[in-house]
Amino acid sequence: MNLSPASAAVSPFALWRETQQAVVERALQDWLPRQAPAGLGDAMRYAVLDGGKRLRPLLVLATCEAVGGHTGSALRAACAVELIHAYSLVHDDMPCMDNDVLRRGKPTVHVRFGEAQALLAGDALQAFAFELLVPEDDSVQPAMAARLCRLLALAAGAGGMAGGQAIDLASVGRTLDQPALEAMHRQKTGALLQASVMMGAATAQTTAATDARLAEYGACLGLAFQVVDDILDVTADSATLGKTAGKDAASDKPTFVSLLGLGGAQAHADRVLDQAHQALRESGIERLETLHALADWVGHRAS
Ligand code: IPE
Ligand code: IPE
Ligand code: MG
Ligand code: MG
Ligand code: MG
Repeated sequence: MNLSPASAAVSPFALWRETQQAVVERALQDWLPRQAPAGLGDAMRYAVLDGGKRLRPLLVLATCEAVGGHTGSALRAACAVELIHAYSLVHDDMPCMDNDVLRRGKPTVHVRFGEAQALLAGDALQAFAFELLVPEDDSVQPAMAARLCRLLALAAGAGGMAGGQAIDLASVGRTLDQPALEAMHRQKTGALLQASVMMGAATAQTTAATDARLAEYGACLGLAFQVVDDILDVTADSATLGKTAGKDAASDKPTFVSLLGLGGAQAHADRVLDQAHQALRESGIERLETLHALADWVGHRAS
């Protein structure tokens, strides 16, 4: 067969990723409210649609596929975790936090809609995430819905993302040692990525041993993801990132780059991703290609 260079370059993972990103986009388009009072729906849709890598949904869907889980529940879980992520970005960008004007290549929500509307859009997206997990028609089994809600709540709250964000803000202008920096990253970013994996696993009956290895995979991938985010803040430009580059140093944030330098940070991300691959190999799951590929993507992404 005579493949053109372009078609030869498309890997099975890239094809899988683009297909699933389109599925998630369609579901978010369909599920997000069009009507909400005083323009709130517009701000919510602006915050979520047409942008982002959809990494968290991809982790839910890939884990569900790997363990042979319930796909309808996984699609709801995938969208729910993306809604929490989108809300966290809206609030992260506000003047009281990172004060950013660019996100996903567009003006941030508070720049476009005002601060109060951005605050409310984040609030409403968070509530809507949990609503998605408990559909009226029981298309997510009640026990599974409860488990998915618990995993997401734990990852989003004080012991996860919100707590990590509090540490981030309290650390401006300070030097954190590696354990402290790692703890912050595991909470502010890692928790939601790990929960994405565990929500995918929760759509099937998995053993405690498999869950433990998947939890390790998710934790390692989540930590490496934020280390690479710190690196890209230094090495990439704003057009590629779709957000303002160089913000961490400008805001005097402790990062893996400020602690270890660029080479040291990348070496650390690579080491942690090796641990993620190892945890997968120990999981007892047979179909692991996509989860391995997602870890590689996290380590080598351009944005
Ligand atoms: C950015 O996350 C914020 C962090 C948690 C580091 P992503 O890099 O996943 O952002 P999108 O969803 O692709 O825009
Ligand atoms: C944000 O971390 C983590 C969140 C919980 C949103 P950053 O502040 O580094 O994310 P970016 O770089 O603005 O996307
Ligand atoms: Mg921040
Ligand atoms: Mg930020
Ligand atoms: Mg960042």
